[in-house]
Amino acid sequence: MSQIKLIGIKNIPFIKKEDNIAEIITQSLKINNMSLKEGDILVIAQSIISKSKGYVKNLKEINPSEHAYQIYNKLVEKAQGIEVSTKSPELVQAIIDESKEIIKTEHVIIVETKQGFICANAGIDKSNVDGKDKVTLLPRDSDKEAEEIRMQLKDLSQQNVAVIISDSFGRPFRRGSVGVAVGVSGIDALLDMRGKKDLCGRILETTIVGQIDNLASAAQLIMGEADEGLPVIIIRGYKFEFSKDASVKQILRDKSTDVFRTVDEEQIITNHLKSRRSYKLEFKSEEIGRKILEECIDIARYAPSAHNSQHWRYIILEKNSTRELLIDKMNFRLKEDLEKDGKAQSFIMQKTTSRREKFLTAPGLVLLCLDTEELEEYGDSERKQFEYIMGVQSVSASAIYFILALEAKGLASCWYCAPLFAGDIVKDVLNLPYSYIPMAFFTIGVAEKSTVIPTRKDLSEIIFNV
Ligand SMILES: Cc1cc2nc3c(=O)[nH]c(=O)nc-3n(C[C@H](O)[C@H](O)[C@H](O)COP(=O)(O)O)c2cc1C
Repeated sequence: MSQIKLIGIKNIPFIKKEDNIAEIITQSLKINNMSLKEGDILVIAQSIISKSKGYVKNLKEINPSEHAYQIYNKLVEKAQGIEVSTKSPELVQAIIDESKEIIKTEHVIIVETKQGFICANAGIDKSNVDGKDKVTLLPRDSDKEAEEIRMQLKDLSQQNVAVIISDSFGRPFRRGSVGVAVGVSGIDALLDMRGKKDLCGRILETTIVGQIDNLASAAQLIMGEADEGLPVIIIRGYKFEFSKDASVKQILRDKSTDVFRTVDEEQIITNHLKSRRSYKLEFKSEEIGRKILEECIDIARYAPSAHNSQHWRYIILEKNSTRELLIDKMNFRLKEDLEKDGKAQSFIMQKTTSRREKFLTAPGLVLLCLDTEELEEYGDSERKQFEYIMGVQSVSASAIYFILALEAKGLASCWYCAPLFAGDIVKDVLNLPYSYIPMAFFTIGVAEKSTVIPTRKDLSEIIFNV
């Protein structure tokens, strides 16, 4: 007959920072007239490890970021009409701080924690910690912490045991939380059954058992979630082979083979929109292929335009003598303009030299024009003017799509208005149709340095309620 026993160790005191868990377990066993046996598996609640190591945060000391408030607002919106506990912006910030990646924000926040666990709210727990604003965080390196306790228990008891640090996680597809392992020492995370025979003698081809999760879940039956006060459970009678290289990482699915891993598209788009920058510094010398520019122009075609007229025309300027002639002629015009403005020769020299350098050395240079052929005809000058503005607005919309598409492909760019000030020269040198109005240059390349984020106006300065 095979039998496994689950033994809850009573009298474990409330754990405080710097308590030695192995010594406390040993004392509690003594009080209960119990002792460890060779091959026991100790399942220890994460909360006592976190408390002993000081992985506790006071939410009152957290200053939520703008990002935390955005997620908080989304949670509030998503939670409407369903019974879920609310999270404060401070708790949301704590979750962000503990996460490598926010995977989904619904009425809960699903993240990949810095330790690599995919779980709700980064495993942050409000229960079993004193102080209403305090929360426990997942241990930083539970395998190491499990190993430390196992080695100390071996010294104290002279018995070889295995240690699993457990927590309870919710699951996709099924309701109810279950015990899972978040750290292990002495027993392999997985039990590979491949190659063994089933009841009918068939060779198992794919079966790999989540051994430590099964054990953590079994321990959860008597560990409880509330005030049972049994944070350490001994599993006795489970047959296993001792392992020196056990790690909870063995149980974590690789991102590339996780078919359920979804991306939070809203998050990605938000990040993308907010992280795009105008890159005005030197580019790496890497050349930009025409194909990648065409792919970005393809995306730029999907911008909205007045009457869907698609007034935009993109001209890719190769790095050749025409580009050089164009820049020199444009610079001549700039010099004339600045002289008319009464600027000093040294200033003019600096401006024209830096502009020549920028436009000539940029691996990619694209000119964007408005094709006035696409504008609707009107009988009066005022409406003609509005139609022209709509053309400019449409071209600008396409330009935004273009630079975001570049950014998505890892290319930096900057929008320059220089061609506007020398439209006649640009048209002449490039032999452009009469209806084209040069609007902007885009310098494009691979960024060499990181840029500073220019400040943004406060929302209160740009949103008005009427
Ligand atoms: C219509 C337009 C014209 C611009 N012209 C220039 C320019 O001539 N020179 C320049 O250095 N940056 C130019 N920029 C880039 C702005 O300086 C830049 O977008 C702004 O400082 C905000 O920085 P960010 O794009 O990194 O958020 C232009 C941007 C726009 C939208």
